Amino acid sequence: MKLSLVTLLSASALVTAAPVAEPEPSLDTRQAAQSIHAAFVAKGKKYFGTCADQGRLGQGKNADIIKANFGQVTPENSMKWDATESSKGNFNFNGGDYLVNFASTNNKLVRGHTTVWHSQLPGWVSSIRDKNTLTEVMKNHINQLMGRWKGKIYAWDVINEMFEENGNFRASVFYNVLGEDFVRIAFETARAADPNAKLYINDYNLDQASYAKTQGMVRNVKKWIAAGIPIDGIGSQGHLTSGQGANAPAAMAALCGAAPECALTEVDIQNAQQSDWTNIVKACTGQKNCVGITVWGVKDNDSWRPQGNPLLFDSNYNAKQAYQTVLAAINSS
Ligand SMILES: *[C@@H]1O[C@H](CO)[C@@H](O)[C@H](O)[C@H]1NC(C)=O
Repeated sequence: MKLSLVTLLSASALVTAAPVAEPEPSLDTRQAAQSIHAAFVAKGKKYFGTCADQGRLGQGKNADIIKANFGQVTPENSMKWDATESSKGNFNFNGGDYLVNFASTNNKLVRGHTTVWHSQLPGWVSSIRDKNTLTEVMKNHINQLMGRWKGKIYAWDVINEMFEENGNFRASVFYNVLGEDFVRIAFETARAADPNAKLYINDYNLDQASYAKTQGMVRNVKKWIAAGIPIDGIGSQGHLTSGQGANAPAAMAALCGAAPECALTEVDIQNAQQSDWTNIVKACTGQKNCVGITVWGVKDNDSWRPQGNPLLFDSNYNAKQAYQTVLAAINSS
């Protein structure tokens, strides 16, 4: 049976006639009694967040947990190039709109992720060989995404994963065709597209201060900022394994010293010891300009690398000891 449009419209008019505020999640759907976000904000940080997208938000207790325990969301996939511009000039903002609307409705900050990245990049972009074409394509992509959600995004990962492990520039299509200048073009375009968004360069394996990739990020970001390129922050993804948390505070000291602000942007820890989580919190609380920590998912078996139960909630949505450890580390900082 098909409902008439009039029936639907009048039904929804009745429903929307008396708007009621969305109720606070009750304690039984709030899987952790205390919010790590609220605790972090009380210590002067901006957020403790997680990644999400429409699919996850519609499943189980994810939305309730995020509403109650986190203060920031990063789209896991919906703002990536393959999701937003799979063919030239045809933009799809549905997934991103859903997440941004969820964030606005529930008073969460958003980290936009990501505009310029060699991975999850459609073939029509990676096959471009002409400088002018790639410049225009990159600028248009940044302008479309950042324009779409202008004023609603706290920070954007303008460039993601541009370094090799040895600290050199990755041979992406952007670097191969435009050279190092793609960094300036991307950040200047981003600044103009949404002047209030914080503009980040984000990467993984920045987990040890002396590591060549960490040093490459620090050296180049200092150089670029000195050259007037509008970079506001460095994001360290923080995909760790057991024991690696020990190096995180010194690594963040190095990274945070190279830019106006910094953040841990995609944290998960396989086979974590409790000390790894304590050290991750310290890595941010120890740096005045570290604005926040984002973990890459809510529950263990929704992780992109589920081996070793890397997150703060178990596969049944129960807050783990890791959650209590994070909370204690924040409260004692
Ligand atoms: C995660 O674990 C729960 C509880 O065991 C199970 O119901 C669910 O299907 C699992 N999800 C995935 C993606 O494996």
